[in-house]
Amino acid sequence: MTRTYFIRTFGCQMNEHDSERAAGVLETMGYRPAPDAESANLVLFNTCAIRENADNKLYGQLTSLKPLKMADPAKTVVVGGCLAQKDQGELAERVPWVDVVYGTHNMGSLPKLLAQADSASLPVVEILEHTEMFPSALPGRREVAHHAWVSISIGCDNTCAFCIVPMLRGPEKSRRMGEILSEVNALVADGVKEVTLLGQNVNSYGRDLIRAGEVPELGGRTLFAELLHLLGDVDGLERVRFTSPHPKDFTSDVFAAMRDVPNVCEHLHLPLQSGSDRILKLMQRSYRSSRYLELVTEARETIPGVAITTDIIIGFPGETEEDFADTLAVAQAAAFDNAFTFEYSKRPGTSAVDLPDHVDPEIMSERFRRLSVVTEELALQANEGQVGTVQQLLAEGPSKTDDTRFSGRTRTNRLVHAPMVDGWVPGGLLNVRLERAAPHFMIGEVTSADCDAPVVGPVPVVAS
Ligand code: 5AD
Ligand code: SF4
Repeated sequence: MTRTYFIRTFGCQMNEHDSERAAGVLETMGYRPAPDAESANLVLFNTCAIRENADNKLYGQLTSLKPLKMADPAKTVVVGGCLAQKDQGELAERVPWVDVVYGTHNMGSLPKLLAQADSASLPVVEILEHTEMFPSALPGRREVAHHAWVSISIGCDNTCAFCIVPMLRGPEKSRRMGEILSEVNALVADGVKEVTLLGQNVNSYGRDLIRAGEVPELGGRTLFAELLHLLGDVDGLERVRFTSPHPKDFTSDVFAAMRDVPNVCEHLHLPLQSGSDRILKLMQRSYRSSRYLELVTEARETIPGVAITTDIIIGFPGETEEDFADTLAVAQAAAFDNAFTFEYSKRPGTSAVDLPDHVDPEIMSERFRRLSVVTEELALQANEGQVGTVQQLLAEGPSKTDDTRFSGRTRTNRLVHAPMVDGWVPGGLLNVRLERAAPHFMIGEVTSADCDAPVVGPVPVVAS
């Protein structure tokens, strides 16, 4: 009988990418997808440890699986990824009824670990300190036919004081450009229209390859900008996105590539973290707010129509009302199109834990609410500024709340819902006039009769 699997992914896009690889590995073992954890023979939790509530949520979710496992001991429960890497043996002690625990470096061991679990009465735990092979080298099974996550580097060489990622994912290791390009070519041949390049710090892509003498330095152009240019030559690849760049490493050649390479989208996700120079220093983020705002100005001047989004942490240790006011001011000055805001969360082993003056949780929540008011207002203003324009939409699927509409994304990554028209298909490109704005979505109307007609762009076109 065919065995089935269900994967629950917590956390970031890197985890979504890893889950697609885990699915690919399971499918090569003969497993097939199941619609939910209840009916699946194997349940895999791909975990996140970036903030404390991710931990709590995961242990809660795992506990809720226990009755299923007790009722059906043949069900296999696998926990992998960042929380497993962080908690290691402790995870197996807290949830001893799981079958397999693996970390961030060894997803490729899944078949071996599952085979061992068949004959083991205790959880089979394997956590490695170094990556054996890029997860990208494993077979993948994409969630969406027309979109693929493509990892260009793993790990991180930075030491942001709040961040647990370098501890869990190790030092930065870049993938060779030829491998990335052949993966992207194969993906396009398989129907992919859009790729999102993933790395903890995409701007430093390839520095380790240059250091190791594997790649020569390109006089003046960074390897990341070079990669964007090369992806511009991939026939049939309609859209290239990337996340996340680091402000300290951002170079003008990347802005130029975003302007000049037609398939590179006009969306920049540039984590700010704090608008206070004092806090940025404490965070060990080596740019200052003035440099950040210079980058924003350069992006807007270089890339017509660019949307700029960010990550901001509230309540980092030592943050005063004045520091917080600086963050509000930078958010206003940057006029973010969207912002992901987080309350600071203590992560064991990170240097911020030992800093003095941790912020009272109530003050933190109150600042979080005040920042959200500002970022929501900015998001609404930004979307209102798009009303009346015609833009290229990549259709994703039926709207989740209205079955007369489909949803898609503009090149600037705005979510748009539009009434269905004949011939719309997930992965199809259409031109849409944006008619109404809310902070996190827009309503549009399809203007091109032929859904795969030549589309507008790279620059959003204002309707005449
Ligand atoms: N507490 C709160 N937010 C955090 N992030 C990373 N570490 C923490 C932490 N300890 C946020 C940062 C990062 C995003 C992915 O998660 O803003 O850019
Ligand atoms: Fe974490 Fe900083 Fe590395 Fe991003 S750049 S993964 S925030 S340490």
